[in-house]
Formats: sequence, structure tokens, C-alpha cells
Amino acid sequence: MRTLTAKNMKNMKRGTVSGLSHHDPSKIEKMASRFEVFANENPASDTKRKELIDKPAFGVLFSDHMAHITWTEGEGWTDRRIEPYGPLKLDPGASVLHYAQEIFEGLKAYRHADGSIWLFRPDANAERFQNSATRLALPQLSFEDFIGSIAALVKRDNAWVPSRREYTLYMRPFMFASEPFLGVRKAKEVEYCVIASPSGPYFKGGVKPVNIWVEDTWFRTGPGGTGFAKCGGNYSASLVGEYIGIDHGCEQVCFVDAATKTYLEELGGMNMFVMYKDGHLETPCLTGTILPGVTRRSIIQLAADENRDVVEKMIKLDDLIEDIKSGEVAEIFACGTAAIVTPIGRLKSEKFDLTVNGGQPGEYTCALREKLLGIQMGEVEDKHDWMWKVQ
Ligand code: COI
Repeated sequence: MRTLTAKNMKNMKRGTVSGLSHHDPSKIEKMASRFEVFANENPASDTKRKELIDKPAFGVLFSDHMAHITWTEGEGWTDRRIEPYGPLKLDPGASVLHYAQEIFEGLKAYRHADGSIWLFRPDANAERFQNSATRLALPQLSFEDFIGSIAALVKRDNAWVPSRREYTLYMRPFMFASEPFLGVRKAKEVEYCVIASPSGPYFKGGVKPVNIWVEDTWFRTGPGGTGFAKCGGNYSASLVGEYIGIDHGCEQVCFVDAATKTYLEELGGMNMFVMYKDGHLETPCLTGTILPGVTRRSIIQLAADENRDVVEKMIKLDDLIEDIKSGEVAEIFACGTAAIVTPIGRLKSEKFDLTVNGGQPGEYTCALREKLLGIQMGEVEDKHDWMWKVQ
């Protein structure tokens, strides 16, 4: 178990990645080969699978297998396996069901035009998973097990990776406290699994601007909380705000900081950026209450590549409102693994209702989305070696 120190806390805020090299494809092969395969005897037929993976939905169906590793306090991580996808056997006393000791990640497997399959920055997800585990007092999973489990599952269920553009195999690694115990303490038994879901765009209707509800009554987290960790609790805490937004015709909620109700933080499940008329970008800085998004970090790099200024700062909601009203703000967009880059067309709350860029998708937002997707799909040069070839 890693303890929280000022140093690793700083890394969580910055969301740094380690320099694990992935240029040697045999390395990923070696990591995947540590998983014993127990084949699903009733996999979906070719016809059924082909029909399913072209369905334009996010996260509603799952491939034939899952990866699984078990942890106990005495033995550490054991039984690395790929097994048939199916219900987990869980004791009703399992502490995750009572105290929500759970973390997860989200990343995608992309099929390139030549049929090869790739992951985007899985080392960044591995590192964030370790940071989340530290915050939720869960055991550390090594980069090798994290990346190996994903690669082993992708290899086994490679036929489930869609070939249609913007359609991917969404990988969902997660870890939870499985020990049946009602006392509040670190669990002595933990499970780690990866499931895979062939998925289309997160928002229905392709790239069209979404409406955002700015919520200042309910918060997803607060100072010293779990905001920087990817844990289920942050997402369940976001739902009340999200549904208030839905009642007001919005697809997503944007939270402000709980301490002062003054600064923009992040959306229910994604980060956000503002582009000003002069071309510079602003995004909420990582204060510890915001998820350090892998897409967020990649966008900052892509903007730096084109010498575009990116300011990571505490963004005052009142200033943003003024800047939208005065026409200084050109575009606003959301970003995340699931959302990729999604234009924001409207910001709404009890106190204001503002249209951004005439409610149209911004030119820069669309170009950035194409560039990122292009790198992920192998159509645009991957200057930063972000892509890892699985097969
Ligand atoms: C992702 O973007 O991968 C997430 O985990 C966010 C969730 C809203 C799907």
C-alpha cells in the first residue's frame, strides 16, 4: 500500500506519467502472456458479433471475455486470468457494497486501417489507477499487470474491436474491495477486472454541441476529497446535479468548487476547455478536486505543439460569463476518453442562459477532435509515441 505523501500528492495533481518504454512490441506481449486463458465456450457467433459491434451506443454490450486478478493481504496479486465474461460471485457483505471502496479507468482499443489494434497512452491510465488506489486505500497494481490485463483481453477478444471510425472497444479496468466485512477499514481481499464494450460515440447524434448545466448547489467533491481519483463515488455524487441539468434540457453538468462556489471545475464525466478569440486556451487547473484527464493532458500537449498558449488556472465563473457576453470567448469544449472532444453550445443555470459560438460546433474544436482522433486511428503522425500496438 502506498501512503499519501506531499510528493506523490503533487504528482496526482499534475497527473504525471512514468517513462515506461513501449517501443518494443514484445514487451506488451510478455505482459499479456502472464494471463492464463479460460475460453468462453459459448461466445457470440460471428454474425451476432458483427451485428452488435456496429450498433451506435456507448457501453451497453460486452465482449466474450474479461480479465481478472485476485488480491489478498497475505498473497498479493494472484490468478492472472482471462475468463468468460459473466456475473461476479460477490458476498452481500463485500465491503465495496457498503463503503464504496472502488476505483476504475476508461481507455479504448482502436483498429487501424491495416487491421492492427492499438491503445492510447495506457501508461497514463496505469499511473492514474495507482494514484486512485492510493487515495481509496486499495492495493497498488503494477503497470505490467494493468497494461498486460488490457492487452491480454484485447488479444483474446480482438474480433470485438470495431473497424468503423469513432467506434472502438472501450476498456473498463476496475478494482473493488470484495472482503465480506462490515468494519470500516482497508479490505484484505480485493478483485481487479477488465471488461470490454464495443462502443460508439458517447453522445447520441454525432458531433453536435451539448448543453451544459452549471450546478452550484450539489457538488461532486471538495477540498481534500476524492476529486482527483477515478472512483465510482465521484460519479454517483455527480448524478443529482446531472439530472437537475437534464430537467433543464442539458446533456451534462458542470460543477463549481464546493468551497467558494466561484470557480469552474469539471463536468460530470469530462474536463473542459475555453478558447478565446485571440486563440489561447484556458482550462481549470488541477487543484486536487479535478480529475487529471488523459485527454486533457494530450490536448495541452497538442496545443503546445502548435505554439498555442494554454493557461491552466482557477477559472472564475463570473469572469467566464462576462467573457462570453462580451464575445471574447470563441469556443468551449468538453473532453475525455469517452467524449473525445465535444463542442459545448450553451451554458445554463438558474441565473443565466448563454449561447457559445452561436450554438454551432467551433472550428478549432472540430479540428482538434479530428487531430486527436486521427492520431488514435493511425491517420495522423503520432509525434509523442502515445500509441501502443497490441497486435
Ligand atoms: C471516460 O471518459 O472514459 C470516463 O470514464 C467517463 C465516463 C463518463 C464514461
